[in-house]
Amino acid sequence: MAANSMFAVGFVLALFSLSLSTASAGIVETSFHVKNLTVNRLCKNQVITAVNGSLPGPTLKVKEGDAVIVHVFNKSPYNLTIHWHGVFQKLSQWADGPEFVTQCPIRPGGKYTYRFNLTGQVGTLWWHAHSSVLRATVYGAIVIRPRDGHKYPFIKPYREDTIMLGEWWNANPIDITKAALANGTAPAISDAFTINGWPGDMFNSCRPSNIYKLDVVPGKTYLLRIINAALDNQFFFKIANHNLTVVGVDAAYTNPYETDVVVLGPGQTTDVLLTANQSPGLYYMAAHPYVSAAGILFNGNTTTAILAYPQKKKKTTKTTPILPVLPAFNDTPTAFTFSSNLTGLVTSPFWSPVPRTVDENMLVTIGLGLSACGGSNQTVCGGIFNQRMAASMNNHSFALPTSMSILEAFFRNVSGVYTADFPDQPPLVFDYTNTSNSFNPGLLMTPKRTSVKKVKFNSTVQVVFQNTALVGIENHPMHLHGFNFYVLAQGFGNYNPATDSKKFNLVNPQERNTIGVPVGGWAVIRFRANNPGVWFIHCHLDVHLPWGLATAFLVENGGTPESTLPPPPADFPKCSS
Ligand code: C2O
Repeated sequence: MAANSMFAVGFVLALFSLSLSTASAGIVETSFHVKNLTVNRLCKNQVITAVNGSLPGPTLKVKEGDAVIVHVFNKSPYNLTIHWHGVFQKLSQWADGPEFVTQCPIRPGGKYTYRFNLTGQVGTLWWHAHSSVLRATVYGAIVIRPRDGHKYPFIKPYREDTIMLGEWWNANPIDITKAALANGTAPAISDAFTINGWPGDMFNSCRPSNIYKLDVVPGKTYLLRIINAALDNQFFFKIANHNLTVVGVDAAYTNPYETDVVVLGPGQTTDVLLTANQSPGLYYMAAHPYVSAAGILFNGNTTTAILAYPQKKKKTTKTTPILPVLPAFNDTPTAFTFSSNLTGLVTSPFWSPVPRTVDENMLVTIGLGLSACGGSNQTVCGGIFNQRMAASMNNHSFALPTSMSILEAFFRNVSGVYTADFPDQPPLVFDYTNTSNSFNPGLLMTPKRTSVKKVKFNSTVQVVFQNTALVGIENHPMHLHGFNFYVLAQGFGNYNPATDSKKFNLVNPQERNTIGVPVGGWAVIRFRANNPGVWFIHCHLDVHLPWGLATAFLVENGGTPESTLPPPPADFPKCSS
């Protein structure tokens, strides 16, 4: 099977006869059949859950402004939801997907049709399961091109290609996670990293041809859409001997940024231009982890794919591709330089100026902790101090509801499902990033809560994410559903409002949906809450999500039809099985 086969999405073009409008919008309609698939990786056959028989799943290709309809058939043995990571979901939050936040799962044998518009964003997003850790194998790209009559704000690429970074276990990741959660510990680390589903030459695959290969024509410029779909790893990504120009992140245009290395946390996408300007030959694209936390176990191997220039004929000697030298695993300065130097493109048709006044000003600590081992008879768990590993925001360790989604409870006015008391400030002021506090028993324990932050429609929300040193400092990729936010500033240590607010970029900050908050540091984001619904905000490292590194913004209706969430669709999954 060709490693680079893209699975075309059923595409129906429907020209809406909008009076006096030059815009034409299409409808992209497709079906996702989610079921068992046996694949061979690392010399072993493994049964995985996959969409339409492929890993990664099908690429959803749309033009900006299109309506998307995806019929999801759950033929897998697991509860399932699909999240369209980064899609604004304007007035369509019933299609957002996080299990028990917006919807109850599609039960095995069930189906649900996700309907939403892809408006106001161009570039690369992706979709993934948002139930348990199913997203390990249930994921794919979303490619959004400019609508007819519009262009990219950069040189027209000769070809485009998608590079999806993933993670692979020689076991069922769901079983691994269940066992870890029962014991209160971290799940076993993965056995490989992948590019477009294949580990590449540095891992033993027993099948040497199973590596992703991109053939390039000398002199041509390519648009590469790089996506980090891994569960628990941030990556450094490089292509040997080639420079890259970043032109977009998270489906928002950036000013061109020249680099030889790209850093991506799970959930993030980076669009780069690559010019095939090197001498004919083979070059590895390579990625390995960026590990910001000290003393943790990780897989230090490198996943590879091949960038191939046409070879001279009659070549008998086998060429070995050139391998790039990746930064050291703990090279935080390189990660920070990349992440903090990106700026937004204010001439983009989708740019709107940064709101200058703030209605909701929050300081939110993010980090690890412990929760009581608890359980019926269980008094000894596998975490630190025999407790359960946990994580929290402002010391609330988020627990998903189990009976009904938060969105439904909000919509139907059902009480007892969530509380709207998520705090604007940490409950306790301490030296957040001081590692001598890491195992302070007076600071480590965090209570389980299903608490959300309620905000008025159209209010401007600013959040200072402050990493804590509890258990250990670490870079957390924080993802907000439904909105892009501006990243105003980031830095190390404890945020100081007096001096650090002077560093805000209010002119052309990068706009994105996922930000890696610097290890032992802080990041300030701002967004306008102009879409009613319950928007999950969480760490995109899957190990930290069930531990509770999450909360949600409940954005109230605005009082007009254009600012009111319509009722759920008729086929919305029922919560009772
Ligand atoms: Cu990409 Cu809530 O997730």
